[in-house]
Amino acid sequence: MPPPRRAASITLLFAAPLKNKFIPRHPLFRYRMASTNAFGLKDASLVRTQGFIDGKWVDAKEGGVIKVTNPATAEELGTIPEMGLEETKQAIEAASTAFKTWSKTSAKQRHDILMKFYALMKENTDDLARLITLENGKPLVEAKGEHNYSASFLEWFAEEAVRTYGEVIPCAMTNIRNVVIKQPIGVVSILTPWNFPSAMITRKLGAALAAGCTAVIKPPPETPFSALALVELATRAGVPPGVINVVTTQANVAVVGREMCENPAVKKVSFTGSTPVAKMLYGMAASTLKKVSLEAGGNAPFIVFDDADIDAAVEGAIMCKFRGTGQTCVCANRIYVQSSIYAEFASRLAERVAAFKVGNGLEKDTTHGPLIHDRAIEKVQRHVEDALSQGAQLLVGGKRIEGPGSFFAPTVLSDVPATALVNKEETFGPLAALTRFETEEEVIRMANDTPVGLAGYFFSRDVGRVWRVAEALEVGMVGTNTGVISQAVIPFGGIKESGLGREGGHGIEEYMNVKFIAFGGL
Ligand code: SIN
Repeated sequence: MPPPRRAASITLLFAAPLKNKFIPRHPLFRYRMASTNAFGLKDASLVRTQGFIDGKWVDAKEGGVIKVTNPATAEELGTIPEMGLEETKQAIEAASTAFKTWSKTSAKQRHDILMKFYALMKENTDDLARLITLENGKPLVEAKGEHNYSASFLEWFAEEAVRTYGEVIPCAMTNIRNVVIKQPIGVVSILTPWNFPSAMITRKLGAALAAGCTAVIKPPPETPFSALALVELATRAGVPPGVINVVTTQANVAVVGREMCENPAVKKVSFTGSTPVAKMLYGMAASTLKKVSLEAGGNAPFIVFDDADIDAAVEGAIMCKFRGTGQTCVCANRIYVQSSIYAEFASRLAERVAAFKVGNGLEKDTTHGPLIHDRAIEKVQRHVEDALSQGAQLLVGGKRIEGPGSFFAPTVLSDVPATALVNKEETFGPLAALTRFETEEEVIRMANDTPVGLAGYFFSRDVGRVWRVAEALEVGMVGTNTGVISQAVIPFGGIKESGLGREGGHGIEEYMNVKFIAFGGL
């Protein structure tokens, strides 16, 4: 059990360093590169600390590395190269060359390689889960959950690879046959977030590889090691040189991101992250009319009607709100509870949250880990203070937990007014904000009163209401009587300003062009 933590002073809160820092490359700085054994993996060769271009592990051309820290301890884990424009162009070129041969492999060959990649992920579960916990902070049990979720995308897309059927369409002219085929789109740029260091890679890369595309990946600087370990396993599984490339960057992210979106050789951009960044990348990709998949921010409503099973609703809220310590795009952000059951739900939820064990994810009894960095803490703190200043009541938590690492006490606020920041923007942290409502009509209006629409949840045992509310919520994904919706097989994605396109499910289509061929002159 981690030692009890005390609240941080205001100075500590705002003067804390960013998680990662750019460090100039110099031989003397090499000592900063932590030994790969320090990660404590059974297979230390899974710890890769370089970028990957054209089948080779490479450092940055200009020198310079990025320090990666463990958010639970603030200790350095290791470094990765600070790459830039030149490496990005090289990576795109390597992917373009590799596309010529990879796109010609049979779907069955790609299926077999993906299944080998999947099997290698499963064989290395302990190591890969440990990497997720070390760099992201989520508890080991949750990291294993992410790992299995991540591997399931490889299995799913291996199975999809062999089912990219075309079509034969009857033609009005007797001497023509209409045929539709699907072809891989080309080089894909993949930009991923730190909250799922592994699963957001495979959700995109699995689909891209299965379709016959090649990829350039920019992993997040906070959690690059899971992505690099996956690339090591992909290579062992037989993915040829140039098919997957990785450019690591932090300070040069603007120029690298622009190249990944504007280079004419790239045919598709797939991004998961915030809505403002999604809009920026969309604008850049528009310069060459690239296809995009953008999974952007959410502000999920979680509604508990008075006919709900309250135990199930509390359980659902815990899973949905506090998964990843509140750092998922599909986390409940606004919790609306009907008046007659409000007090009971609030006290049961607060009781459960007070019993969480917050600490280092490597400790056996930890239920919830740290936030990714101190900027994340500042946002949660701001939302809590704003709600309290507008009359909300603090039921549990409410402050930073002092000590090394970026910990915030899991928090429940009640009587949060509609005008509070937490009801307007995504908190991305462990704050459950409860608001009371009276009628179905009122709560639907409140739930839809946001520019984003990724996920929405509600609990009710009235079958008519279940249909009505599921249809009325302006979101891409609905959980009714469950707080867990994520699976490889579903069309994951949002509407409104939560993004474009769907991942998982039939998402392989997003990596393929549809071609119509008229066979004439019969
Ligand atoms: C995300 O937070 O972006 C992904 C969440 C999920 O796949 O469950």
